[in-house]
Amino acid sequence: MKIGILSSGGDCPGINATIRGVGKTAVTHYGMDVIGICDGFQGLLNREFITLDDKSLSGLLSLGGTILGTSREKPFKKSLDGDDTKPQLIIDNYNKLGLDCLVCIGGNGTQKTAYKVMQLGLNVIGIPKTIDNDVYGTDVTFGFHSAVDIATEAIDRLHSTASSHKRVMVIELMGHKAGWITLYAGMAGGADVILLPELGCDINKVNKAILNRAKKDKPYSIVAVGEGLELSGAGNKNSNRNRSSRLSKMIEDGTGLETRETILGYVQRGGSPSAFDRNLATSLGGHATELIAKGQFGRMVAVIDGKTTSVPLEKVSGKVKLVAPDHDLIVQGKRMGISFGV
Ligand code: F6P
Repeated sequence: MKIGILSSGGDCPGINATIRGVGKTAVTHYGMDVIGICDGFQGLLNREFITLDDKSLSGLLSLGGTILGTSREKPFKKSLDGDDTKPQLIIDNYNKLGLDCLVCIGGNGTQKTAYKVMQLGLNVIGIPKTIDNDVYGTDVTFGFHSAVDIATEAIDRLHSTASSHKRVMVIELMGHKAGWITLYAGMAGGADVILLPELGCDINKVNKAILNRAKKDKPYSIVAVGEGLELSGAGNKNSNRNRSSRLSKMIEDGTGLETRETILGYVQRGGSPSAFDRNLATSLGGHATELIAKGQFGRMVAVIDGKTTSVPLEKVSGKVKLVAPDHDLIVQGKRMGISFGV
């Protein structure tokens, strides 16, 4: 068999470990030929690829980013100039490359595209990846725990400067629609206020929580906020871009306490994967190859209740996994006096 692997969408720690997991299992255990398609679906449209063999698959486990490159090319999206030739080009190039299966490593958008490629009649396997942890159908995505570790360290470091200056520190964390990183890093880093896009926020409650701490002789606070939070009165997407500075001002005006903001940004996505993510990526990669060898296409590998398994792409496509309001960390956090701003 011959398989092609591509990575699409935002990068995250663990993609190279996954490419290695898929590729080494395919070459060593199943005797397959493997190519890596460059820059996501863009590379498939342009037929740009590299051959992956035992040598080129070495040294990837701890490497950040993706050796294949990535793009946000969406071949099924109607282009402004009305060009709808991309789906046929995908079929043609898949055949010209002699592929028996296309492995798509990516987040929600990529899994949706993978499902559409499957509907073209091609063999596809999806592997979920994103620091945001919001891919539907799997309990966890690799990249998430690496990002949580980075964000937790950042919050740890804010504690000492916040307490020295008696300041409120707002830290904005990634998660386009979902607050997973904010919840996990906020709790692990001991944030005093955790604001999730899923819950929204009442600024009066946030300020009250901060003032309550000041009354208890704790005139400093850490506020972890997810980048997807819609601040009331933000009006449009542009004003949401200034979410942290607007939130800081609302806190400073409402509490009288000096407030500063930090946007952690892309450092959450860069660098080496954690040990957990390396093993998750390896396991998902190996399972993906096993599915291919068995001819079980049109599925996304997943972790459900601690077990590596797979789900039909049809069940994943177009959905997002959000933090539930009764998530145990929220329940326990509230009992401990942490404010979730609602
Ligand atoms: O990978 C997910 C993510 O990091 C989101 O949290 C964020 O909104 C988005 O990617 C931004 O990525 P880019 O600027 O590459 O589009």
